[in-house]
Amino acid sequence: PRKIIIDTDPGQDDAIAIMLALAAPELDVLGVVSVAGNVSVQHTTTNACKVLELTGRTDIPVHAGCAAPLRRTPITAAHVHGQTGMDGPTLPDPILRPHTQHGVDFLIDTIRAHPPGSITVVTLGPMTNLAMALVKAPDIAQRMAGLVSMAGAWAQGGNITPSAEFNVYADPDAADIVLRHAIAHTLVPLDVTHRFLVTPARMAQLSALKGRCARAAAAMLGFSERFDLTKYGWDGAPLHDPCTIGWLLAPHLFAGREVNVSIEVDSPLMQGATAVDWWHVTDRPRNALFLNDVESDGLWALLLAHLERLP
Ligand code: BDR
Ligand code: CA
Repeated sequence: PRKIIIDTDPGQDDAIAIMLALAAPELDVLGVVSVAGNVSVQHTTTNACKVLELTGRTDIPVHAGCAAPLRRTPITAAHVHGQTGMDGPTLPDPILRPHTQHGVDFLIDTIRAHPPGSITVVTLGPMTNLAMALVKAPDIAQRMAGLVSMAGAWAQGGNITPSAEFNVYADPDAADIVLRHAIAHTLVPLDVTHRFLVTPARMAQLSALKGRCARAAAAMLGFSERFDLTKYGWDGAPLHDPCTIGWLLAPHLFAGREVNVSIEVDSPLMQGATAVDWWHVTDRPRNALFLNDVESDGLWALLLAHLERLP
């Protein structure tokens, strides 16, 4: 199986992404690193522990990462995700404790301890931890097999400001640093995730599943989706973070292009905007595979089939 590290700010959609990864025999989750994003790092760390306990995978270590973006005032999205960041299901306080090693050092040590080209990192929140790791240990860039990030927006506009997607907006300097490193980087932006909607019909399918994980997933989405349903007025709310794991499991369901993606870090109005050179109108080097479409029914079927396998 492909070895991955999940760097995340759970987050209901993060939690479902983690569940999807744990249900997939093709993936070996070496660890979960938390970061401040949707809510504080204390909450996202606890939530990561809760998800691992829920799935019965307390053998996987949780490492707490950065508590704040590199050089901005922290923002959160508690208005979407609730005060705990994972409101919805009633899950017990976790017994599992985070490992004592900092998430940034876990990333560095784990990537260095494995042969080059063997570890893929998946970021589901602001890229603070990975940016810190790359600054401390630039050699890890070449050692990584790849990087998949839920991040950015091009034709869709932003979801936290008119021009920026939340994960990039929350720590644009981190995204900027990461994108300047030569890493095989796939971006899964709003252009994809806004095509992956949890409609009432899909919600009914999820709610019909029996296991405790699927039940918790349904309760999570019942909570977090209420906000986006009103905001967009679509037939369902977007399910962002699981699309990254979906890409690892079924890349044929996605479309995209190798492009240059640069991050706006100076302008207050455009902070965190992803300037995507879709038409190759500059000579800036191609630094990412920017996905812009997904076969939504196929991805939903894949997600359901995997959630059904969990306890
Ligand atoms: C991203 O922001 C967070 O609120 C979600 O968990 C997702 O990672 C979407 O913009
Ligand atoms: Ca997230």
